[in-house]
Amino acid sequence: MNNFIFENATKTFFGEGCVKEYLACLAGHYGENVLLAYGGGSIRKNGIYDQVMESLTKAGKKVTEFSGIMSNPTYEKVLEGARLAKENKVDLILGVGGGSVMDCCKAVSMAAVYDGDVWEDFWARPGIVEFEPLPLGVIVTAAGTGSEMNGGAVITNKKLKIKTGRDYPGCNPKFALMDPVYTYSVPKKQMVSGGFDTLSHIMEIYFSKPDEENVSDDISEALMCGVIRDLRSAIQNPQDYTARSNLMWAATMAENRIIKLGKQTDFECHQMEHQLGAYVDCNHGEGLAVLHPVYYRHIYREGLSKFRRFAVNVWKIPAKGKREEELALAGVEALADFIREIGLPTTLRELGINERVDLKAIADSCNLLPGSYKRMTHEEILEIFQECY
Ligand code: NZQ
Ligand code: ZN
Repeated sequence: MNNFIFENATKTFFGEGCVKEYLACLAGHYGENVLLAYGGGSIRKNGIYDQVMESLTKAGKKVTEFSGIMSNPTYEKVLEGARLAKENKVDLILGVGGGSVMDCCKAVSMAAVYDGDVWEDFWARPGIVEFEPLPLGVIVTAAGTGSEMNGGAVITNKKLKIKTGRDYPGCNPKFALMDPVYTYSVPKKQMVSGGFDTLSHIMEIYFSKPDEENVSDDISEALMCGVIRDLRSAIQNPQDYTARSNLMWAATMAENRIIKLGKQTDFECHQMEHQLGAYVDCNHGEGLAVLHPVYYRHIYREGLSKFRRFAVNVWKIPAKGKREEELALAGVEALADFIREIGLPTTLRELGINERVDLKAIADSCNLLPGSYKRMTHEEILEIFQECY
């Protein structure tokens, strides 16, 4: 294992009924003014809004609403939230939603107290957060990103066509409330997208050095097997509590830094998806589903021993009689079959990318990250996009 330091500052409350049980008390630790942030309105339809408001009223809070946070949240939306937070002297931001709401709230928590331009100083390039962002609590309504227990926030600058994620420990939510029942109403399309995002996070950590036996890879294999099993169950029965709770916690485990310990990680596929998103605003998990098998066909020869392990330990492909390379590729093809099985898209066309979209410009805008078994070039990224088309 590589050397590491570990800390995670988010206090996490998990299980059915946790919002009713803990929210009023948790909110009581902060001042009177709460910024209630949410997305396009699903929480008003499924009753979550009413439950949250009941607890906030019980705690005597004055609530300012910040609604309409879109998927792939924009920097403009962050500034709108920061304005509201300042004008209403907000003491606590409460984000209720999926990754987009949580990410937007983290950026708002910085922009509301920072005098400069947070995009320039913290997203355009990595910065150092030497101030206390506004306290943030989150209530997860859609599983997938793991944003609830990290400082990561992925923000889109529409003008510059850049979608960038940064992880600042100072942005970790103070608390996260996770009730798996809240995810029952997530539509199948979003549920599988979120589940695949989780699988992608685990794979992008697993497929990197070191390759010798290590705790992080062992946990990752167990998590991957679980996500595959639980996605199948939740597709069969969207109200399967066991499956929904496992998917929710696996998403957190994938991104709460634990399985990254001692690992290099290779988030190049995320980098490519983020830039596709910056140009065409596609769904995050769906974009990853299109890219992953093609990316792995490009790199598996450079990481044969890990891809072989993936085939045997995750997809249970018998090793007997197969050459190492054949077995490694069989694991990638099993992943591609699973993507089709759960109804995720397999081409960029299905994501809404047409011939007018300049794939070369998108490829050239991707950062080349360290950590991959095979160092990418912009030319190879363009090849991958073209193969995905
Ligand atoms: O907006 P509403 O009406 O609430 O509907 C949402 C939205 O349409 C809906 N939804 C959420 N909970 C629901 C529900 N519908 C019915 N019932 C519920 N209980 O789900 C839709 C998608 O929500 P969104 O938050 O956009 O999805 P997701 O959680 O996949 O988040 C995607 C964003 O997170 C970023 C992505 O890049 C993307 O911008 N990521 C954040 C990461 C992080 N902070 O660590 C890591 C990830 O790799 C990822 O990049
Ligand atoms: Zn992701």
